[in-house]
Amino acid sequence: MTEMRIDVVSIFPSYLAPLGLSLLGRARADGLVELNIHDLRDFTHDRHRTVDDTPYGGGAGMVMMPEPWGAALDHILASDPDATPTMVVPTPSGTRFTQADAERLAGRPWLVFGCGRYEGIDQRVIDHYARRMSVEEVSIGDYVLNGGEVAAMVIIEAVARVIPGFVGNPESLSEESHSTRTGGPLLEYPIYTKPPTWRGLDVPDVLFSGHHANVSRWRRDEALRRTASRRPDLLAAAAGELSDRDRQALGESDHGCTGPR
Ligand code: ADE
Repeated sequence: MTEMRIDVVSIFPSYLAPLGLSLLGRARADGLVELNIHDLRDFTHDRHRTVDDTPYGGGAGMVMMPEPWGAALDHILASDPDATPTMVVPTPSGTRFTQADAERLAGRPWLVFGCGRYEGIDQRVIDHYARRMSVEEVSIGDYVLNGGEVAAMVIIEAVARVIPGFVGNPESLSEESHSTRTGGPLLEYPIYTKPPTWRGLDVPDVLFSGHHANVSRWRRDEALRRTASRRPDLLAAAAGELSDRDRQALGESDHGCTGPR
């Protein structure tokens, strides 16, 4: 059974070709995810297949016109009149996309992504569809991309991999950085595999000890120190959940840690 339907509208459909690869490609082949990519220019009616025009009020750049967007989105909605999708519009002026959003969106049966280019999409497109469905304008980070396609791919990958049945081993999801499943907003601890020594660098002894509690404690300490050094904002948010032992590990890091690792 298809767990999720995803539609993406873009003027560069071939930009989204990587969605056919790797795990997501397999999920599509297995019927877990249905993905439909639409060319916005197919919904224009002029010879030049125009999708943009100058901004009212002046200013640099071009704005995506509402008509092709309306035609494309109505066409997608008409394909399943009994269902209502959630619309996601990637934009640098959106709310920040997080793992919690990925997990929330993974529970939705149908997502429609509208990928803007140029300065963005006429706001009335968002305002109109927000009357008909849930529309989320989201940013994947504080930097500006040339268009929404790469951001949509980031969001789709983050969402698809937390759909139940998508990742082979669900336990691998629960220990990773930013997982909301363990309740821990810490970054992940460092990981090692064979050989035990590589270019003069040793795997930490505790990982050979077979002492589960010591390994767990070491991993948590490393996660705490890493988070303190790289993402103090995350650690500040978790301050209320830290044990005395956690605080001790962080106190030690003021002296023993040589910098970001
Ligand atoms: N489009 C352009 N920049 C973006 C960003 N940072 N996040 C989401 N969509 C975008």
